[in-house]
Amino acid sequence: MTITLLFIIFIACPLASTGAKWTYNGPDGEHDWSSKYPFCGGAFQSPIDFQTQLLRYDPTLPPIQVQNYNLSTNEQLTLGNNGHSVLLSLPSNMYISSLPHRYSAAQLHFHWGSSSLLTGSEHTVNGNRFAGEMHVVHFNSDKYPNISMAVDKHDGLAVLGVFIEIGEFNPAFDKFFKYINGIKYRDQKIQVPAFNVRALLPARLDEYYRYDGSLTTPPCYPSVLWTVFRKPVTISRKQFLALATALYASYAQDSAIVPLHGNYRKLQLTDSRVVLVSFKDGLHSIFSVASPFQRKQVIQKLLVGDLADLADEGLYQLLPKLSPQPGVDKKWKKTKNQGQWSQATQKHQWSNNKVPSNTGYSSSIGKKKPTPWYMGALGTDKGMCFVSLEENVIHQLERYHAKGLMVEALREVVFPDLNLRSYLNCRSDLDLQTIRQLIKERSRDEAVELEQSLTKAMLRQIRRQIKRHRNPNMETTTGHSQATFPKDYNSALTYHRPQRVEWED
Ligand SMILES: *[C@@H]1O[C@H](CO)[C@@H](O)[C@H](O)[C@H]1NC(C)=O
Ligand SMILES: *[C@@H]1O[C@H](CO)[C@@H](O)[C@H](O)[C@H]1NC(C)=O
Repeated sequence: MTITLLFIIFIACPLASTGAKWTYNGPDGEHDWSSKYPFCGGAFQSPIDFQTQLLRYDPTLPPIQVQNYNLSTNEQLTLGNNGHSVLLSLPSNMYISSLPHRYSAAQLHFHWGSSSLLTGSEHTVNGNRFAGEMHVVHFNSDKYPNISMAVDKHDGLAVLGVFIEIGEFNPAFDKFFKYINGIKYRDQKIQVPAFNVRALLPARLDEYYRYDGSLTTPPCYPSVLWTVFRKPVTISRKQFLALATALYASYAQDSAIVPLHGNYRKLQLTDSRVVLVSFKDGLHSIFSVASPFQRKQVIQKLLVGDLADLADEGLYQLLPKLSPQPGVDKKWKKTKNQGQWSQATQKHQWSNNKVPSNTGYSSSIGKKKPTPWYMGALGTDKGMCFVSLEENVIHQLERYHAKGLMVEALREVVFPDLNLRSYLNCRSDLDLQTIRQLIKERSRDEAVELEQSLTKAMLRQIRRQIKRHRNPNMETTTGHSQATFPKDYNSALTYHRPQRVEWED
């Protein structure tokens, strides 16, 4: 009997455990994070490069609105050095009001370069790295009582990212930069007077990148809804150098002094994700996204609809990247324009289009089957908890004496669920791996036919790309610019990775 980890049911979800030592360089550096923190080697990781071909214009993204950011100078904030960054605690009455849930502030911190290498932002734009990046971390306070309960939930966190470049002196940053000599060593903390935190953000809050990602430090849970503002803020060279040279990653009592700089994580795989943008000026030939309603219909078709139909006409609805003619994308756009959608209409449409919860199970007599894995993504409130997932996977692997497979097994469990949720929110393309999981319960012939069509379409795509690669001047039929080639090529190839980790019982 074949066992797949997808049938694990999550009940309890303990607090995130505090973990082992990690650094940016040396033996405990990034390459080793996943040995102690398996999610760091897993799906939907951050940061990523905001390449033009990943961007999708979404006209429904509202300007970011923050509340209670103008703190009273009577209030005190804790400024600390945690050995990885400088961190300023924030009161939870500060919150973001323009997201589907209320996200309350917890802390802000920085990533930066060094005095010799001035670039150290985590996200990059078409490969360009800024001098630094600020992250204002918020947790979903509608659903979770505090940040430790939220950090390992798929909808737990929302982070505002701000690029920092070197330019004019920034008086707002000096409100706490001027105290950093009091926290030179790891674990040192001081109290500083509060100030207007809004002044740390760029002037415009309506232009941003939005995508589904993770913490950029261990334990790297893929729990973050990212908003990175398009326009950077500036700090002076003097301010930057003060930040880059003042702090140590080592404790005051350590004999070896380790400077704290260059504390940014390398770029991560895109994993079928796209980046929604709230702006379109300055961008060429940008794609718009299909509505959540259309996406839900696609999933419904996969679960209960005519798969032969999908194998034929609907193939490019499933994997629009493989679309052979530019016309297909146009058709998509046209349907979308028939109705602008909003959170409200989305909810309405969802409730009118229920996917039967007994899909594929109604015919089984007597024997009770577990809830299908995708119901968490299709239902509204069933969440994913990464800590209990990890515990379940460890438990399963121990049973099969396969502990070395932790990173792969966890990715295997988490990816289709994250991909499906993200797809339904228009922040990912549907991945072949997810399609395969969704049609697993379908009648064999139909599923095989669809699978064959998908494979064929992908092979065609790869062949075309190889041809184009060999002969860059050849006229293309896809309408994509040459520049998009390497990325599409890679993502098409990734479909040939092993799709499931299975154990024989
Ligand atoms: C922030 O609040 C202070 C009073 O606490 C007020 O004087 C100041 O004008 C406010 N700043 C902004 C930008 O609203
Ligand atoms: C967070 O909330 C949980 C559940 O209410 C509680 O057990 C825990 O102590 C809280 N943690 C912190 C750091 O406040």
